[in-house]
Amino acid sequence: MRIIVAKDYKDMSRKAANIISAQIITKPNCVLGLATGSSPIGTYDQLVEWYEKGDLDFSQVSSVNLDEYRGLDHSHDQSYYYFMHEHLFDRVNIDPAHTNVPDGTEADAEKECKRYEELIASYGGVDLQLLGLGHNGHIGFNEPASAFDKVTHCVDLTESTIEANKRFFASADDVPKQAYTMGIGTIMKAKKILIVVSGEDKADIVAKAFYGDVTPEVPASILQFHPDVTVVVDEAAASKLPK
Ligand code: F6R
Repeated sequence: MRIIVAKDYKDMSRKAANIISAQIITKPNCVLGLATGSSPIGTYDQLVEWYEKGDLDFSQVSSVNLDEYRGLDHSHDQSYYYFMHEHLFDRVNIDPAHTNVPDGTEADAEKECKRYEELIASYGGVDLQLLGLGHNGHIGFNEPASAFDKVTHCVDLTESTIEANKRFFASADDVPKQAYTMGIGTIMKAKKILIVVSGEDKADIVAKAFYGDVTPEVPASILQFHPDVTVVVDEAAASKLPK
């Protein structure tokens, strides 16, 4: 595991975008695993800037996103499908047919999770998986649990996640109660993993996840066992790491 300490959010985003750029340049038809949330927005902005300058070409890239709310359709502005189009897909020359987000409108959870897992396998796996880190150590929607979830599955959102997300919806009742997410096993199969974390509020979990015990109670801690992980943290998020 490589830990790169960046000065601030902008520097973290630039460093992460450099790593993704290197992936696209060295393998133009690579498969990127992508994440939503506030952590990767700056990374996407930086990639768009380099694309606009003519330094990056997404025409052969494919993508698979980590997760999606169950029950939200593509036009819902809180769907992860919508987020990805707004922050990246509609701003670069990626072929929309080669972008994939779990289908939140598929009511049959088992069918959708199986389809998604098979889709990733049909691509030959993920070359580079981008992740953010939740305050409780979650990655994707893999929340602290007694065991690591292996494959793409449907999760019941915890009360605290619903509470945290209700600000984006008209009321707590409108927040989806479930989501489809890649499993820990799916994430661990990616050839390379890049995780971006910023802010002092994440300093405790960064220390716990990357220097603490490997336990499903801190899902991201499993990344310590992956052979090719790069953690890009800003100074604030790195403030509780051992010197
Ligand atoms: C996003 C995702 C989540 C976020 C995590 C951090 O697709 O799966 O695990 O990466 O909740 O969110 P932010 O970046 O908003 O702090």
